[in-house]
Amino acid sequence: MKTGIDLISFYTSRYFLPLQTLADKRGVDVGKFHVGLGQERMAVPPPDEDVVTMAASAAKPLLDKVDKSSVSLLLFATESGVDQSKAAGLFVHKLLGLPSRCRVVELKEACYSGTAAFRFAAALMEGRPEENALVICSDIARYDLGSPGEPTQGCGAVAAIVNAAPRLLTFDDASGLHAEDVMDFWRPNYRDEALVDGKYSAKMYLNIVALTWTHYVEQTGLDVDDFERICYHLPFTNMARKAQAQLFRAAGIKRPSDAQIDEKVAQTLGYNRLTGNCYTASLYEGFACLLDTCEADLSGKRIGFFSYGSGCMGEFFSGVVQDGYRAHLFADNHKALLDNRLELSYQAYEDIFNLKVPEDGWEYVFAQYRTGPFRFGGVSDHKRHYEEVE
Ligand code: HMG
Repeated sequence: MKTGIDLISFYTSRYFLPLQTLADKRGVDVGKFHVGLGQERMAVPPPDEDVVTMAASAAKPLLDKVDKSSVSLLLFATESGVDQSKAAGLFVHKLLGLPSRCRVVELKEACYSGTAAFRFAAALMEGRPEENALVICSDIARYDLGSPGEPTQGCGAVAAIVNAAPRLLTFDDASGLHAEDVMDFWRPNYRDEALVDGKYSAKMYLNIVALTWTHYVEQTGLDVDDFERICYHLPFTNMARKAQAQLFRAAGIKRPSDAQIDEKVAQTLGYNRLTGNCYTASLYEGFACLLDTCEADLSGKRIGFFSYGSGCMGEFFSGVVQDGYRAHLFADNHKALLDNRLELSYQAYEDIFNLKVPEDGWEYVFAQYRTGPFRFGGVSDHKRHYEEVE
């Protein structure tokens, strides 16, 4: 049996801003956000939520289904890490009570590092049927207030068990790869908000869809018809539609119809439309959405994945959905989470946006907001404190 994804769980903040509210405030026709970008709401993390609490909240349901003592690897992918040295995964390791005989590390390459984590975990779990890897992608997407990127903000985490007997998806071996040093989106160490050359970033993303597809096809000989669905990195949902059109062109289909494009991608987009960009987690949020909400049976079907991280790194890869996968989903949890969030006013969003973790190291305790099972309680002596919510 090949290695792959055994279980997958998604978590996002309990607060959101409707993009209608943002459009009204910015004096923009909401059609630009709803239709042009394909986004409806953005998830906003309260001050006591960060990539650690979202990660642990995403992972907790998985650990009710696998033996904790079998988790020998925790890979944490993020581009909004909480420390320049310590791996965020070590906070999660403690919150979840994982065994000390476990390898824990944090990975970074913009939105791509989640894919590196999945591929590395799959390679490390080969031939180890007794062990499980916990892969976590967790991010908060922040751009300057009033900037073109603002309506694409969001946050969320995906946690997955990767092992040698996966119940959801086995990975195929081939990978179409492309690495190149470009400045399309970046975040210097002294900034909380990303800097981005928006149009250029979208152009690079599309160029790399074609380049990684070509590399993948050279190895496999597969064609676009061999894929039941394709999941794309989702900075906003319309990017997937543009990407699918680009992939069709690279595969020789010059003028794909909207119906052809939708058939491949539409069922991967529902969650992201309601959360916004979750950076490393976005691609896998789309995959969870597909498994949870696609009415057609995907058993035995091949799914394509395109991962893009600005800077930039791209990978096209694939996997095959396993028989019986529907019995192992967290679809009800995901639906309840997205259906039961609190709507923020514009002012509440801006107040939360402007609240910063104090940098002087003095004792600071955060007010309690609505979170999942874990919260970021405060800071003392420059150390972050996390706690379980009663
Ligand atoms: P913008 O330049 O303000 O928007 O921001 P625009 O003028 O290009 O309009 C967007 C779309 O809305 C256009 O459609 C308009 O025609 C349409 P398109 O031509 O693209 O098909 N539109 C309307 N539609 C209906 N009714 C209307 C209306 N008005 C306009 N009334 C931009 C867009 C993406 C540049 C901006 O949101 C941005 O900078 N975003 C952040 C960067 C980003 O998301 N890049 C995506 C690729 S890079 C990537 O994915 C990596 C990333 O996730 C980071 C990482 O890897 O770490 C970002």
